[in-house]
Amino acid sequence: MFEITRLTVEHLAAGCVTDCSAPRIGFSLSSDRRGAQLADAELTVGDWSAHVTSSQSAAYVGPALLPFTTYSVRLNATDDAGETATATTAFETGRMETPWKGRWISDPSYHFTEAKVSPVPMVFRKEITTNKPIARARLYATAMGIYEAELNGQKLGEQYFAPGFTSYKSYLQYQTYDVTAFLTGADTLTFTVAGGWAVGSFVFTRKNRVTADRQALLAELRIEYTDGTTETIGTDATWQVSESGPVRMADLYDGETYDATQEISDWHNAAPETLKVTPAITADYGAPVKAHEVRKPVAVMTAPDGETIYDFGQNLAGVVRIKFNGKAGQVVTVRHAEILNPDGSLNTTFLRTAKATATYTCRDGEQTYSPRFSYMGFRYAGVKGVDAKDLEIEAVALYSDVEHSGSFRCSDEMLNKLQSNITWGAKSNFVDIPTDCPQRDERMGWTGDIAVFSPTALYNFELSRFLEKWLRDVKAEQLPTGGIPNTVPVQGYGFPATMPEMAVDWWGDACVLVPWALYEATGSLDVLRMMYPTMQKYVKACCFWAGFGIGKHRYIWHTPSVLHFGDWVAPDVPKMSQWQARSKYTATASLCNTSGTLAKIARILGKTEDAAKYKELSRKVADAYCSVLTDGNGKTKEEFQTAYVLPLYLNMFPENVKAKAAENLVKLVEKNDYKIGTGFPGTPYILFALADNGHADTAYKMLLNTQCPSWLYEVRVGATTVWERWDGLDENGECPIGDDGTDMMISYNHYASGAVGAFLYRRVLGVEPTEAGYRKFKFAPVVGGGITEAEGTVGTPYGVIKAAWKIADGEMAMTVAVPVGTECTVVLPSGEEKVLGSGEYTVTAKA
Ligand code: BGC
Repeated sequence: MFEITRLTVEHLAAGCVTDCSAPRIGFSLSSDRRGAQLADAELTVGDWSAHVTSSQSAAYVGPALLPFTTYSVRLNATDDAGETATATTAFETGRMETPWKGRWISDPSYHFTEAKVSPVPMVFRKEITTNKPIARARLYATAMGIYEAELNGQKLGEQYFAPGFTSYKSYLQYQTYDVTAFLTGADTLTFTVAGGWAVGSFVFTRKNRVTADRQALLAELRIEYTDGTTETIGTDATWQVSESGPVRMADLYDGETYDATQEISDWHNAAPETLKVTPAITADYGAPVKAHEVRKPVAVMTAPDGETIYDFGQNLAGVVRIKFNGKAGQVVTVRHAEILNPDGSLNTTFLRTAKATATYTCRDGEQTYSPRFSYMGFRYAGVKGVDAKDLEIEAVALYSDVEHSGSFRCSDEMLNKLQSNITWGAKSNFVDIPTDCPQRDERMGWTGDIAVFSPTALYNFELSRFLEKWLRDVKAEQLPTGGIPNTVPVQGYGFPATMPEMAVDWWGDACVLVPWALYEATGSLDVLRMMYPTMQKYVKACCFWAGFGIGKHRYIWHTPSVLHFGDWVAPDVPKMSQWQARSKYTATASLCNTSGTLAKIARILGKTEDAAKYKELSRKVADAYCSVLTDGNGKTKEEFQTAYVLPLYLNMFPENVKAKAAENLVKLVEKNDYKIGTGFPGTPYILFALADNGHADTAYKMLLNTQCPSWLYEVRVGATTVWERWDGLDENGECPIGDDGTDMMISYNHYASGAVGAFLYRRVLGVEPTEAGYRKFKFAPVVGGGITEAEGTVGTPYGVIKAAWKIADGEMAMTVAVPVGTECTVVLPSGEEKVLGSGEYTVTAKA
């Protein structure tokens, strides 16, 4: 049977509300007939239709879309045997630049001046009376701060932390709520607005009031009556406001304080507010944070001070939900931590200034509470103020609503746990933007972390909306010098005092590496087009900073090491200054990589002159690296793993010395007992550098090593996520990191070194795109390490690739499901290749 398995608008299968003038429509197909191909697809949007034959996505290019309108989408697809399939969906247009009738409002009597904390949450309300039958009603809302809307006491929507985190000086999202069915004639609309990122304390300096001096609200209720008339009720001075709501304190780092006995008695009138910024206010275009997995405790213990400690068995980002019978005035506190102290109490040292505490004052009777304006990174919760026997407690994972589209499993259970830890690392750090960690006083959009992790992330999740939203901010926040801030959105951080506003290797590279990873995974040219000018400006800036020497030294990026992160967190040297001191190598390789990638992008976008220019630049940088930083014969002047990994992975060595360089890397790895020695820039690539240069055995020994530092060491000592520091806990479960200047930089939920995940998919399972978006892909497992079978799925725009291999009795069986619209080259252990069209196949060969 020929079927349409997916039909999306702006990457959403349902519920899309968009302000795009040309929404993108995508679809995937399946068929039980091998080799089935799409012959024709007729796409109808409202009254407009078009034929799509060559690809499985199209942008709407019909008559201008009208605001506030629902459009039906229909796809009639025909395959090359004449079989047909139909699918329908719908989307809604948002305001599409319709001026707001509502005005920004705030509480003119509230002056927020305290440092390093968040403002008291504001509550706004408006009584609404309607007396005609309603055909359609939508509430549009946004805020300075983070908000929740309630209609007659019922929360609207499922999103946490609306309107989301964007570069507020440029972009602000608004949310759309369908309230047609909830308006009764006499209704109360309430908004609670906490400080969030815009007004509350954020970044480790706990800066606050970065975007606005106090919270503000902009909302509009648009009602269409059945008689054809419309009415719009917007925020204005008739709305009321108070700071006496039940949410007494809310701060992203410190947690939330809620008083269920609190009644508001001091309502007063709100007043128009003039903002410091004038962002484009656009319908949601990212992936909103929602509640996902709910976990019950796996163990309950008592700490020496009597605190009840709950172990949820999984480190995650989120909130607890508590349920119990309480008495008015009873106070319950919930603290959070990733690890325990040896005496069984919570270890909160590494949260630094983040208090990560929920405090709840009860009313009488049975009650449920869960924070709504903060989140914590935790595996353990410590509760006081209620007896354990009376309490039901759950941990609710909060993360951006992204589809978990990939899976990996193999015969090695420790690798399977590593895969689980990698995906939990991603979930915990995809909180509206890609963050570094979810627990301490950072949770910032560190560019370097996602730069190296994005290929792995894209194997596991469909991230088009999530990453495109963040990349808009990367583009918006690019500095006039061409550099990219180290964290995006900057939101009060800026460059550290030691760094002028300049290009920073591997971190700034995110503006090239993330779009490229997204393009490889999805085939979407939009992201390349959007980011191309940003990438050009960035690479120009890198050339400037690299260009201070003469001759070949013009291509060696060797500004003082305090201006770089270098081989960040490399475990073979303990000090930050030693990581940074490797920057000559990491920065030069970065320039070779970004310019080389830009050359490929220029070619794809049809910019042939640019392509030639960047290719030549990349070649010169590679040549300089080999001439200046190596002996010319495959040996680096300073020997450390990353110094070899980067030029090997990036193909910078001349052919005749490549093998020699690979052998030198192997020697280093052997000398280090197959333990990892790479920092952020080398970790994602070391196993590729080995396996792709004839040393798969060494790569597997490293991958499967369980001595510290290694990926499976963390697994062996009980990690449930990926750590920032390989030696985060010793064999006794204690933190051994001494005072080396970075002793307070110990997170147990940092995804960067989980970038090894791409190797699990690409080499262990063996699936990788050879044409962007997997239009063509390879299934070529690199067998080793005693692994006898692997299986996995990879979500592609064409549908799901399923791949599995198994070795038994000297024979290898390879099974693959090839989506309609794609082509797979299966590479057998002998090197023989078979090209397969769509359908399911099993190929067997001598192992
Ligand atoms: C963050 C990192 C980040 C690094 C850059 C740390 O504090 O948590 O992951 O990339 O700083 O220096």
